Amino acid sequence: MHNPPRVRSDKLSCGDIQSLKGREPIAVLTAYDHPTARLLDEAGIPILLVGDSLGMMVLGFPDTTHVTMEHMVHHVAAVARAHPKALIGADLPHLSYRTPEEGVANARRLLEAGADFVKAEGGQEILSVVKAIRAAGIPFCGHLGMLPQHIHEEGGKYRIKGRDEAGRQRLLDDARYLEEAGAFACVLELVTPPVTAEITRTAGRMVTIGIGSGPDCDGQVLVTPDLIGSFPWFTPKFIQPRLQVSRDVQQAVSSWKAGLVLPGTGNR
Ligand code: KIV
Repeated sequence: MHNPPRVRSDKLSCGDIQSLKGREPIAVLTAYDHPTARLLDEAGIPILLVGDSLGMMVLGFPDTTHVTMEHMVHHVAAVARAHPKALIGADLPHLSYRTPEEGVANARRLLEAGADFVKAEGGQEILSVVKAIRAAGIPFCGHLGMLPQHIHEEGGKYRIKGRDEAGRQRLLDDARYLEEAGAFACVLELVTPPVTAEITRTAGRMVTIGIGSGPDCDGQVLVTPDLIGSFPWFTPKFIQPRLQVSRDVQQAVSSWKAGLVLPGTGNR
């Protein structure tokens, strides 16, 4: 197999991503495996996120709370073997950052597996972890709004955040704390569009990456199977798949199966 070069002079940095703010929208897609990472990188996507959506999209779990460090390390390493120009982001999974020490140790494991930055969910409540990760020199991306690792506390529902004044203020404060702690970027998931726009305007150098949060972000992230229609059993309301990979795969498989012949007969 032809493998991409290991040492790249064109590898992107978090600073490169920040320099796009206000100049060019930043496209982020999830990748959980080597071929997808290569395809997305060759298509010019600047950030590949090994998100813990891995749990649903690849591993067959009902939500992200089942994803472990072992799962993440395994998939980050597969993506890293693509040696992409893109930055590789990796989610710190559920219960892997309960203390600053635990967060730093697990962030280091993800970097050793090949990640360029780590992402964790939450604002003020994880600030000591974020500060410790940054103090260890590890690039960090925040995640505010709907926090999938808290799906059970949300009664199993993905809820829009920032709808009332208290929610709006909390999100603005959390974004400011993360920016001050040194987060280079922050995912805003299911945040109301006006609050998203306000955070984006006031986030300083921190890049906002939206998902289901309206257009006024510095970038957008999608779960790649949602974009290409390869996971047809659930598609979020705000997504219009650009392909129907699941339909095409099933058609190809059925037509191949229909053409099989019995041995020695030339017929079925
Ligand atoms: O896990 C994931 O894929 C994510 C994105 C939805 C931002 O966190």
